[in-house]
Amino acid sequence: MKIFSGIQPTGAKHLGNYSGGFRQYAATQDQGTAFFCIVDLHSITVAHDPEDLRERTLDLAALMFATGLDPERSTVFVQSHVTAHAEAAWLLGCVASYGELQRMTQFKDKAGKQTSVSAGLFIYPVLMVGDILLYQTDIVPIGDDQRQHLELTRDVAERFNSRFGETFTVPKGVYPEAGARIMDLQQPENKMSTTGGNPQGTIYLLDPPEVVRKKLKTAVTDSGREIVHDSNEKAGISNLIEVMTVATGETIAEVEKRYVGAGYGQFKSDVGDALVELLEPIQARFRALRDDSAELERMLAIGAAKAREVSAPTLEKMYDRMGFTRPKGV
Ligand code: AMP
Ligand code: TRP
Repeated sequence: MKIFSGIQPTGAKHLGNYSGGFRQYAATQDQGTAFFCIVDLHSITVAHDPEDLRERTLDLAALMFATGLDPERSTVFVQSHVTAHAEAAWLLGCVASYGELQRMTQFKDKAGKQTSVSAGLFIYPVLMVGDILLYQTDIVPIGDDQRQHLELTRDVAERFNSRFGETFTVPKGVYPEAGARIMDLQQPENKMSTTGGNPQGTIYLLDPPEVVRKKLKTAVTDSGREIVHDSNEKAGISNLIEVMTVATGETIAEVEKRYVGAGYGQFKSDVGDALVELLEPIQARFRALRDDSAELERMLAIGAAKAREVSAPTLEKMYDRMGFTRPKGV
């Protein structure tokens, strides 16, 4: 089984990224051959600071290892180090349609918030399609906000296969049972997010313990007093229950059972403690790894070499099936 996922080196990573991303990466790496990609080419689709991109790329690598990726088992690499990704995006951009890309809700959301929208932001989903298909991926661990992009990947893979002959495995998305969409603690109707969110309602993975506890104490809850999961009627409490499942590994039912008869105040403070317990060891590992940039760069170079080797035959096959001549010999 082949596993692939990608994550952007933009902004401070938060609990939503941990839930839909990091923790699923660590859990799925045991199921087969796993590739986890720091998608720096995706990060230039909106205005960015070059120096910041460099720093964030290494931060993210450290965070991926700190949250449990094992370099012996998983291939962790940077997208721009493997040129096949940019090439595949061009080829697949001529298979995906303009209409499909226009329907992408993430594009519409992000484009609506900017005065100048890059062409790259529009074709970004095609880059993601290529990331996944180059590795003959079976499963893609992601959060709910990537569902539409994954469906596009499946559609483009099937179209390519039927137009040019069997080339790609058609991948499946894997979403967490609870915590596929962690919401903002201050505005539980909006997802926790790097760009659009409220910093007070966002738990950053590198937030100090006292900040985490304070954000939990001031989290918005609902009228009523029962700690039960009901996303429609009790968005705030339901989200906190899911946050608790992410922190402790319990199910929603187990959390509800543990808090029968308890009050919101106690529950919020316990969720804060559970999160601190989850995050402290991750932060300690992060600091140790991040202190040694040269070692991180070495690990990423090893990852890139492996990713190049695995993706090359699929890229060749794409060129071949599409009718390109290829340079021979010399
Ligand atoms: P990004 O930082 O946008 O590259 O996202 C990395 C991963 O985190 C993706 O798999 C997203 O689906 C996931 N993710 C982002 N926000 C959330 C959220 N609020 N809840 C759950 N998963 C999320
Ligand atoms: N678009 C994804 C996000 O913003 C990141 C991503 C890029 C990705 N390529 C991918 C996720 C391939 C999974 C597989 O979160």
